[in-house]
Amino acid sequence: MSAPVITVETKQNLLQKLVVRRPEGGLSLNGKIRVPGDKSISHRALMLGALAEGETRIEGLLLGEDPRSTAKCFQAMGAEVSDLNTELVKVKGIGLGNLLEPLDVLDAGNSGTTLRLMLGILASHEGRFFSVTGDNSLRSRPMSRVVKPLQQMGAQIWGRDHNSKAPLAVCGQNLKPIHYHSPIASAQVKSCILLAGLSVEGKTTVTEPALSRDHSERMLQAFGAKLDIDAQTHSVSVNGPVQLYGQTVVVPGDISSAAFWLVAGAIVSDSELLIENVGVNPTRTGVLEALEMMGADITRENEREVAGEPVADLRVRSSKLKGCTIEGDIIPRLIDEIPVLAVAAVFAEGTTVIKDAAELRVKESDRITVMANQLNSMGARINELADGMEITGGTSLTGAELDSFTDHRIAMSLAIAALNASGSTTINRAEAASVSYPDFFDTLKAII
Ligand code: S3P
Repeated sequence: MSAPVITVETKQNLLQKLVVRRPEGGLSLNGKIRVPGDKSISHRALMLGALAEGETRIEGLLLGEDPRSTAKCFQAMGAEVSDLNTELVKVKGIGLGNLLEPLDVLDAGNSGTTLRLMLGILASHEGRFFSVTGDNSLRSRPMSRVVKPLQQMGAQIWGRDHNSKAPLAVCGQNLKPIHYHSPIASAQVKSCILLAGLSVEGKTTVTEPALSRDHSERMLQAFGAKLDIDAQTHSVSVNGPVQLYGQTVVVPGDISSAAFWLVAGAIVSDSELLIENVGVNPTRTGVLEALEMMGADITRENEREVAGEPVADLRVRSSKLKGCTIEGDIIPRLIDEIPVLAVAAVFAEGTTVIKDAAELRVKESDRITVMANQLNSMGARINELADGMEITGGTSLTGAELDSFTDHRIAMSLAIAALNASGSTTINRAEAASVSYPDFFDTLKAII
């Protein structure tokens, strides 16, 4: 009998290592996949549910570690959240401005979205004290991008490294409205300020240099907030104070998780995958545009709208890819998919240049350095740029011993690269995938 393609090594029942052995004759991927719920929408549904009056019902919530961190933080402040391991999660909100002072430090785990969005909510809870922290990765990530605008609104926040790193302490204040011109296109920054503005008397506006994902705007409006949106200048305003009312949220599949299968289906020969129920909000579909630019055979089927978010099934077939340049305003619309796009570029003919993506250096890991080093150790030719990568495609990869650097998207991107590498590849600390995609390795086994 030939050795299995995928072997998962566990220690005390916990996944530690993934081994991918490519059979001599190659492999192909086939089947239907349902990806887990969108991470960004899952966080927002839990947060707005906690701040709303009445009950919020969430279908399709992502059961990854990140939304679990959000749920725990808001439970510690008085919101009632039903068992997360069920198809329908119910949140009993306690109304805007009513969060209780938690008895202990709030732990956002690995989740930048939890910490940054929550800071806006906490800063405006007048007279209450909160302390917040996260894991090793999160404690090294910059928080000044949200602390500074919140301070302009009158927030009192203290922390390490000139109040820029967690652990942070927040003493809630009666904030004042501002018009913030963000130097970066970041949905976390935009959402943090809008959430702070919900309970502020007057008009709070955020202008960003390019449009970032707009899930907060869509969901805030669905929960009853009136927003002014100026698409031309990428500005959003909220006129506070606002009342939010519990809603039903249907979370579509996460396009950032679908991206692994889109790339896998395109680069592995004789493959065809149908990825069902994927959110295709235009502020998130940069990955589809980039792969199409590279010549990937991807079709959108069954396009529909579900609870205010566009959804489609995505079919991908093996494709002959060519290099391209990815830069400018598309970057915020595919920022989380760049690690796996780098894998696609390795198997494309010609050179791919990714620019304007310095943000990758402050994600869960430095995704430029980590992806370049890991793929180069398999035989890829990637030059790091200060704000991206230059990837010379068309090389063949050889299996190697790799590391996720505890970054979920790195773990999964490397697993996709390993499918097309000769011999055997080991990915250490592969358990990181469970932050956004707990079933990733089971799905991988199922389609081989
Ligand atoms: C997110 C926004 C993005 C993205 C992150 C999730 C969100 O970060 O990279 O994974 O849910 O708002 P930035 O806002 O820092 O660009």
